[in-house]
Amino acid sequence: MSTPESQSNSKPHKVLRPETRALHEGWHPEAPGEPVAATWYPSTVFRHPEQGLSADEWSYTRLDNPNRSRLEATLASLEGGDHALAFSSGMAAVQAALHILDPGDHVLLPDDLYHGVRNLIRDQYARWGLAFDFVDMTRPEAVEAAATARTRMLWLETPSNPMLRISDIRKLAGLASERGWISVVDNTWCTPVIQRPLELGADMVLYSTTKYLGGHSDVLGGALVLRGGGHMREHFGRLQSVQRQAGAVPSPFDCWLMLRSLKTLYVRVRTQCSGAAHIAGKLAAHPAVGKVHYPGLPGHSGREIADGQMDLPGAMISFEVKGDDAAALRVVSSSRIIIPATSLGGVETTWEHRKTSEYEGTATPGNLIRLSIGLEHPDDIWLDIDQALAASGEAGNTEALR
Ligand SMILES: Cc1ncc(COP(=O)(O)O)c(C=O)c1O
Repeated sequence: MSTPESQSNSKPHKVLRPETRALHEGWHPEAPGEPVAATWYPSTVFRHPEQGLSADEWSYTRLDNPNRSRLEATLASLEGGDHALAFSSGMAAVQAALHILDPGDHVLLPDDLYHGVRNLIRDQYARWGLAFDFVDMTRPEAVEAAATARTRMLWLETPSNPMLRISDIRKLAGLASERGWISVVDNTWCTPVIQRPLELGADMVLYSTTKYLGGHSDVLGGALVLRGGGHMREHFGRLQSVQRQAGAVPSPFDCWLMLRSLKTLYVRVRTQCSGAAHIAGKLAAHPAVGKVHYPGLPGHSGREIADGQMDLPGAMISFEVKGDDAAALRVVSSSRIIIPATSLGGVETTWEHRKTSEYEGTATPGNLIRLSIGLEHPDDIWLDIDQALAASGEAGNTEALR
């Protein structure tokens, strides 16, 4: 693709470490006078070359745009994939992934997963003839038992949302490969900083880039990252045509913002994880708290598998207060620093009464609070949690933040 500056924009070598690639893969000035910050191409159309348009030229922003192509190259590089496709939201990426399938095909999904995916399948895809089952992905034998002759896709999300159950990506992706199913891992909670499913044998990784990759709660986006060889070559072609024809693409400015966010991804996520480990330990010892769901804690049911596939235990924690829904609701509305809000992965710590955000009949316990640790000092986060827990009726430090 030729843009004025891309002639001189040579890509850093692949042997560079991901922290370095996050900074230089998408844009790196070479010629004197080139800007250090990446340029932004808001134009929806590009002038044709003299000889007429070829597949290599920029033409129309729904099809491709320099900002999107830089973002996709960076995402593929960080994930260790051959291709990446950027979308206007995580759910647009989910929809594109499901478009690989035909009516009558069957998908296996985790029984604990982001509720939006469950709702999309149930409310939209069932009408198009897609068959599906939700199974306990922590039990590979349950996955085998739920498979049918028409199973074509295995959907994983680990740690699961909101219960932080861990499923074995290596084992399940291996099973999918033996059976000829496409394995997809929603890696939104982990990011490539923590877990790289393609290295563990998965075919495709999905992101809501709205979360940690964007990281500042100011840009919506989604992405698919794929291996290139074998059957995935054909799937990439299909996915790219869904992206371009259906047009759920991110704007050039959203791509620019996302690429800017990726520069700090490694520092952000690692710092958030270290804060989360600190807070999870404190929560586990608090008298007003029952169960704490966090794979970094000793005794977590998925700890061993987590140690084998995650570099860090993540920055998401779910915990159950002693008491009922009302007690949990009182806690989330009593914070002074932590923002009561849905979503996750931002630099500000947020929490929510998860059951309220989910669908009618959800199995999420009513006393569960889902906490997304940000970049505030962990001691300040803890002081806030401690005083808010006092609102559930158990002892806490109500004075500390007044
Ligand atoms: C794990 C996970 N996957 C996918 C999505 C959907 O992403 P978006 O809201 O960007 O469409 C979300 C959103 O919360 C999510 O948490």
